[in-house]
Amino acid sequence: MNTPKHTPSASQEKSANPLWGGRFQGNSAPLLQQINASIDVDNRLFEEDIDGSKAHAAMLADAGIISRADAAAIAAGLETVRGELQRGELPFRVELEDIHMHIETRLKELIGDAGGRLHTGRSRNDQVVTDFRLWLRRALDGLDGDIRGLALALMGQAKRHSETILPGFTHLQPAQPVTFGHHLLAYENMLRRDRGRFRDCRERLNESPLGAAALAGTTYPINRQQTANALGFRAPMENSLDAVSSRDFALEFLSSAAILGIHLSRLAEELVLWTSPAFGFVKLSDAYTTGSSIMPNKKNPDAAELVRGKAASLLAAFQHLGGILKSLPLAYAKDLQDDKAIVFSAVDTVSLLLRAMTGMITDMTAQPEAMRRACAAGFLLATDLADWCVQELKLPFREAHHIAAKAVAICEARGSVDLDTLTESELKSLHPLLDTRVLPLLTLEQAVHRRISYGGTAPSQVMAALERAETFWQEAV
Ligand code: ARG
Repeated sequence: MNTPKHTPSASQEKSANPLWGGRFQGNSAPLLQQINASIDVDNRLFEEDIDGSKAHAAMLADAGIISRADAAAIAAGLETVRGELQRGELPFRVELEDIHMHIETRLKELIGDAGGRLHTGRSRNDQVVTDFRLWLRRALDGLDGDIRGLALALMGQAKRHSETILPGFTHLQPAQPVTFGHHLLAYENMLRRDRGRFRDCRERLNESPLGAAALAGTTYPINRQQTANALGFRAPMENSLDAVSSRDFALEFLSSAAILGIHLSRLAEELVLWTSPAFGFVKLSDAYTTGSSIMPNKKNPDAAELVRGKAASLLAAFQHLGGILKSLPLAYAKDLQDDKAIVFSAVDTVSLLLRAMTGMITDMTAQPEAMRRACAAGFLLATDLADWCVQELKLPFREAHHIAAKAVAICEARGSVDLDTLTESELKSLHPLLDTRVLPLLTLEQAVHRRISYGGTAPSQVMAALERAETFWQEAV
């Protein structure tokens, strides 16, 4: 392990830790260091930590709590540390626990005593959660772009396939024909809400805990509004105990991430089904499929399967942080340190899944003939026959339903899959008013083109939906 480069001052000579070891005689057990240190995880907060410290130091100077000269030295020193961290030049030392102590220790090495004044009127408790909120705010802005990327990919395919017909399912049983564009835009609609949830989360988390200090506020005449403004927060958080110990902003992100994960997993599952020869509706590109080491015939949708599988870790992440939070008395407790690993990994996962899915959707090729072949099974036009009886013969829908069901039974009995093979006499046997006028309506094209109700599957509705989608996704963060 590296030894600190600086010489400890007299008061720190025997202490176990340069930052908090004042009352300690002995050294920390290596196992304490192992369980306590978070630097391997929270080094990802270094930019935010430096931004937060600079805002704090400037405020301390403006409030007359530290001198302008010290504040200037702190700001310059912090920029030096930032450069060192950006270039990976600052070695991490487990005895310095976390990113806050690394930065502060290095600052003191660089600028001496002035560095020791930075932590006035502040605690690591408000510091860490300030950093964390800033980090998640930025991460959410990045994820917004990832979500939009997938939405645009879905819209591109939907435009290409506004008229492509495939069976729509309920219970995974053939139900009614739908257009592929309509099917894909269902996921685009889910993504709009996912984006909305992330935005709500960003809006609610955008308050500053800085200045809550350890838990109770501080005796220094600090200006919390100033640091909140400097860091782009809407306002300082109102209650210091809440500020240092609440993590519902992280939980809110994780719940939204879990829901997004569920959506991605459903789409992934459809890709897995559609690429199986039993369906054959879609071909994924070589870029997003893998072969088998033993079966030369294989082309597997691994990326889709991994999206489906990894979505589980997003559900688990919510459980994990919820479990940490649910029995914590106020205010800060070290359990909270583990919040970051959970959220960092969830952000990485959400981004990866979104980008992998975007790649798959962009590259996939729909197989309209296979989709059409699949429409032969399941009497997808039975509802259309019933609807005609209602619309043209003015029969009650229940009776019409019964007639159409009988029509299906007749066709099935003679081994035909198409309702438009019904003969004049078969139709008459179903109802005296029924005749062959209905037959031209019993085509897949008619079925989808006539479903023009708002939000329906008709190509005209798909194009209208696409226009709305384009307006929605044009809007910047
Ligand atoms: N590394 C700590 C965390 O992530 C910083 C806060 C430490 N506070 C304390 N009272 N020990 O939570």
